[in-house]
Amino acid sequence: MRLDRLVGKWAGMGKRRTKELFDSGQVSLNRRRVSERGLRVGKFDRVEVAGQVLQARTARYVLMHKPLGVVSATVDEEHPTVIDLIDQEWAGELHLAGRLDRFTSGLLVLTNDGGYSEALTRPEEKVPKRYHVRVDGVISEEVVRDFEKGIYFAKEKVMTEPAQLNLLSDKECRLTIYEGKHHQIKRMFAPYGLKVLSLHREAIGSLVLSEDLAVGQWREFQPVF
Ligand code: URA
Repeated sequence: MRLDRLVGKWAGMGKRRTKELFDSGQVSLNRRRVSERGLRVGKFDRVEVAGQVLQARTARYVLMHKPLGVVSATVDEEHPTVIDLIDQEWAGELHLAGRLDRFTSGLLVLTNDGGYSEALTRPEEKVPKRYHVRVDGVISEEVVRDFEKGIYFAKEKVMTEPAQLNLLSDKECRLTIYEGKHHQIKRMFAPYGLKVLSLHREAIGSLVLSEDLAVGQWREFQPVF
């Protein structure tokens, strides 16, 4: 939005009186006095008029080590949610940039910046998500090859994006996928009669779950745009 529109709306003033506020040096953007009325303001810019704060919202970016049993949602009637783990008054402003199933652990990103969460989750962006997976049977070479080609999901009538599977043992692997369909990994293994016993997300793009972030802990981070 244009700065003069925001200021005019807030002050309930017409164009001429709003211009006077700028000309008399009463408008500041991110703590700097500004006279250009056409400047663009984002929702996280701080705007003050005549010493009064008109808008001052802090962008929050949270990286969490999600425990098992906690729901990736902002509210849930039955189970604790990931928001319950953040004991801050701003926790309620956050939304999830991609979910994990209740019994999946690992890296979860929460933010109040819709642009950022969209960039992280939009399928077209093809952001890699790396998981550690353990299944109840032997992962054959056929599975590795098929995952690389894509698996057909009848419900959505689509092929999954090519995924890279690196075997760690015959029943354990590191799997990188580039989208986030509902129960995606469980559904990819299911046609081979393999049940996922444990699923843990280690990384999303360049964000990696570091070892010093214990289960249930979170920290704020500054994304690189
Ligand atoms: N795939 C799943 O099946 N579950 C998750 O939580 C994430 C990916």
